[in-house]
Amino acid sequence: MIVVKTVQELKDNIWAYKQGNQTIGFVPTMGYLHEGHRRLLEEARKENDIVVLSVFVNPLQFGVGEDYESYPRDEERDEEVAKKAGVDVLFLPPVQEMYPTNPSYSVSVKSRVNVLCGKTRAGHFDGVATVLTKLFNLILPDRAYFGMKDAQQVAVVEGLVKEFNFPLVVIPVETMREEDGLAKSSRNVYLTSHERHEAPTIYRSLLQAKRAILEGCHNQEEIKSVIKAEIQSKTSGQIDYIEILSYPELSELMKLKGRIIIAVAVKFSKARLIDNITFQL
Ligand code: PAJ
Repeated sequence: MIVVKTVQELKDNIWAYKQGNQTIGFVPTMGYLHEGHRRLLEEARKENDIVVLSVFVNPLQFGVGEDYESYPRDEERDEEVAKKAGVDVLFLPPVQEMYPTNPSYSVSVKSRVNVLCGKTRAGHFDGVATVLTKLFNLILPDRAYFGMKDAQQVAVVEGLVKEFNFPLVVIPVETMREEDGLAKSSRNVYLTSHERHEAPTIYRSLLQAKRAILEGCHNQEEIKSVIKAEIQSKTSGQIDYIEILSYPELSELMKLKGRIIIAVAVKFSKARLIDNITFQL
């Protein structure tokens, strides 16, 4: 595995792979790697000659008062995980490498962002789209892997790739969970032990809602109140949103039909957790 910290070194390596007609699978992350990230790497390893992993905590996608400074970081451990996962190139750029000057350009995302996390995290998806545009241009991947844990991000990236004609395929990967159902997340380390115990309720409430829908309850307000009651009665978290939308368009639905997403965000004392399920009706 090569560990690369500069844009120039990265470009030199990518150029050599392209010369050799090797396919490139790319897994973008912000590090503090866990099982969820590992799943993406596993998929990338299966389907490509070369696997490139980026670990970069992107300041552009954090709003004022969010956790950019305190976002968990552990480069040494990430390097170990990457090596074990069969990564060929680990790109670990310092901020100055990605943004040598104050950015004068940014990608502005106009659809799929006024719902779910985009509603309260103004500019977040512009930051995600901007950094991914740079990374796609540098790494020139054939395939890029994203987790359905961040389903809105997958929808936004699919839109970005389509509209900007990036010559790559977005591969969505299912959410990896702890045994008790909690979605793996770098932010789970912020949970107190009491909150950690409560947190699996989020996924359970989503499953309960899915079951209710499949059993014929199509009243969206009723479904949301089932989730709300479950989370409020079994956790100390504050519900940020509960939404039912079409997927991947993320539009409101007059009638539950087609592929839908039920998504939830819950704030605990130091961690804001998100989770979702998507399914076909
Ligand atoms: P990060 O939160 O580090 O996540 C990197 C990738 O891992 C994302 O595609 C995310 O959806 C996926 N992931 C996280 N938890 C997962 C889980 N439990 N199961 C499956 N996949 C999971 O998402 C970002 O970083 C950033 O926004 C980024 C795309 C790197 C742009 O900066």
